[in-house]
Amino acid sequence: MLIRIWREFEAMFLEVNNLSVDLGQFHLIDVNLGLEKEDYMVIIGPTGSGKSVLLETIAGFYRPQSGRIFLEGKDITHLTPEKRGISIIYQDYVLFPHMNVFENIAYGLKKRIEDKEVIESSVVDAAKRLKIDHLLDRNPETLSGGEKQRTAIARSLIVEPNLLLMDEPFSALDVNTHTYLTDLLKKAVSDYQTTCIHVSHNFNDVWSLAEQVAVMRDGEILQQGVVADVFSKPRHDFVADFVGVRNIFQGEVVGGSKGITDVEIDKNLILHSSDTYNTDFKEVIVVIRPENIIFSNQPFVSSIRNQLKGIVTEVVLIGPTVWVEVDVHGTSFKGIITPSSLDMLGIKKGNEIYLSFKSVNVKLIDND
Ligand SMILES: Nc1ncnc2c1ncn2[C@@H]1O[C@H](COP(=O)(O)OP(=O)(O)OP(=O)(O)O)[C@@H](O)[C@H]1O
Ligand SMILES: [Mg+2]
Repeated sequence: MLIRIWREFEAMFLEVNNLSVDLGQFHLIDVNLGLEKEDYMVIIGPTGSGKSVLLETIAGFYRPQSGRIFLEGKDITHLTPEKRGISIIYQDYVLFPHMNVFENIAYGLKKRIEDKEVIESSVVDAAKRLKIDHLLDRNPETLSGGEKQRTAIARSLIVEPNLLLMDEPFSALDVNTHTYLTDLLKKAVSDYQTTCIHVSHNFNDVWSLAEQVAVMRDGEILQQGVVADVFSKPRHDFVADFVGVRNIFQGEVVGGSKGITDVEIDKNLILHSSDTYNTDFKEVIVVIRPENIIFSNQPFVSSIRNQLKGIVTEVVLIGPTVWVEVDVHGTSFKGIITPSSLDMLGIKKGNEIYLSFKSVNVKLIDND
């Protein structure tokens, strides 16, 4: 009894506990994941790391050797795929070729609801959200890739799945269509209050869509957590390397002129960015890639807008590069240099150092 109460108290919306899957030459090893309702998680990792196998195990296509999957507190480890209430979207827009767009979107709903008017209004509503309401009587083969994928997304969302899994849904699309669909998808999953796991090779998907990110390698999850945490505090060399650690700060737009935006990231610490920003939108995330930070022993004589002075707090050799961490009045900046530059500049823990970086390298992201 006590254990049950504890479980209900603790349970997350989706819990994958110590999941192992044996596919002969490939194994998922002791995978743990947790998501709250309406979370959006992006899984990244090199090709062959087991991202698709993990999604398909959660969907019920592979039988785990050990471990458990709980969805809404219910053990679904051994349920058949149809009984899990999970939808999955693949890269290659799987639509029914003999049905038009309306019938494709309505397919899952028709199995549950008989009222034709309710079905029709739900389909039209979903189609409007995905901006395909003008295509409802078209056949799939006449659609563009982006239109097909929007139809697949509408079809999945309309049945209000407990969990929506997406395996590289945009990777066959051009960059502009990708960006457009990312925006539509973000709005639509929030409207339908859908919990999502999305596998992607594109870091922009992590930034634009996810609250949570998981990094996989060789069948293991190396790190899972809130995006800014995983990207700024990787707990593993591979993760640091893979995500390319960035300097990430919460900031507030405090002014600007002539194409420069001034952002305060800490009391009296103002950075200058060339990203133009609507000043009504004050909360931003500020990102600076470590390789764009220039170190020097003297103030850098140049027109570079951002020049700071700090104290070296950490010097770590990772592979062929050196990570240098500098404290600037309580804010930590990470830079990356070669071992020979480290020697030349005589950088040591506790030394004073100057940092500079161009305003074009200070990137601003919506903090919503
Ligand atoms: N049904 C299967 N039987 C045996 N091995 C499989 C099966 N499906 C996948 N694998 C193997 O499992 C490993 C992981 O495959 P998976 O498709 O999950 O990788 P991935 O991370 O999704 O890669 P990509 O980014 O290229 O899509 C691969 O080595 C693959 O060959
Ligand atoms: Mg895959």
